[in-house]
Amino acid sequence: MSGSNPINSGVVDPLVESALAGIAAAADLASLLAARSSLIGEASEISQLNASIKNMPNEFKAEAGALLGAARGKLNGAFAARETELAAIAEAAALAAEAVDVTAWASHAPVGARHPLSLMQDQISDIFIGMGWEIAEGPEVESEWFNFDALNFDADHPARAMQDTFFVEPADAHLVLRTHTSPVQVRSMLEREVPIYVLCPGRVYRTDELDETHTPVFHQVEGLAVDKGLTMADLRGTLEHFARLMFGSEAKIRLRPNYFPFTEPSAELDIWHTAAKGGPRWIEWGGCGMVNPNVLRSAGIDPEVYSGFAFGMGIERTLMFRNGVLDMHDMVESDIRFSQQFGVTL
Ligand code: PHE
Repeated sequence: MSGSNPINSGVVDPLVESALAGIAAAADLASLLAARSSLIGEASEISQLNASIKNMPNEFKAEAGALLGAARGKLNGAFAARETELAAIAEAAALAAEAVDVTAWASHAPVGARHPLSLMQDQISDIFIGMGWEIAEGPEVESEWFNFDALNFDADHPARAMQDTFFVEPADAHLVLRTHTSPVQVRSMLEREVPIYVLCPGRVYRTDELDETHTPVFHQVEGLAVDKGLTMADLRGTLEHFARLMFGSEAKIRLRPNYFPFTEPSAELDIWHTAAKGGPRWIEWGGCGMVNPNVLRSAGIDPEVYSGFAFGMGIERTLMFRNGVLDMHDMVESDIRFSQQFGVTL
């Protein structure tokens, strides 16, 4: 043997230590893999030392080979262990980032519901459209002439008084918030050609305080038919058909004499309400009658040739007794839970 082996543990151990430190220092999988070649691959100092064995004197080869083989085995093991460790950390981080908390509250996207007054208004409109009628509209700020005069109200009719009617300033403009949908009768007669079959649903105003059964803003639906030869029988038949579709095939109606300035004869319309609280009974539903010849005349229609019938009822009131709504407040307060009881039909 000539001298000591140049590849000895004093040479190899520091290289192993430095490579182990490099493996431990890799903070994540990507940087570890990027350093593979310099730590344990062909470019590493251990590998280069290993390659130099073939040029050594033969007597040193076995010892150097064993020493470097053990060093490489140790480094490969450390590298693999760190790789496993960093891969596990990466996976845990990915899982944490994608975690779904199955116990969390679902994000709530509430579905709206149409107001039952709108639903009822549409239902009534559909019934009349089904009979070939048209929908008519008029303004809510209405001239006193359409709201009262053309409808044959006397100049001193109590309904004109301040306690019922919202007058719109300035007073000399003679504008009111319409107190009923009947002015649309006159507008329809002026705008359309006879024969006329129109239905007018809409908002009306009266100076009532909001309480369980009143609201200063409410809805009515008005019907008007003008044709040759119309009689009370046509009115009655139309209302009976309407009532059956609204309240069921068992529904009955009754007309009681009444007075309205714009109809003659006039009647109160009652409905036989089988599901009424406290048992079946007659309930006042609306007003109706044959269009007063004065009204036909004020709209330029000859009452000697044409006759007409008209009716009007409150939608809130109809909803109250048909669907058992006990308090008007529920209808005006816009609580979605009230509307949802009537379904979420669009
Ligand atoms: N406009 C009347 C009211 O508001 C109802 C009605 C309409 C009566 C049509 C007769 C004919 O009370």
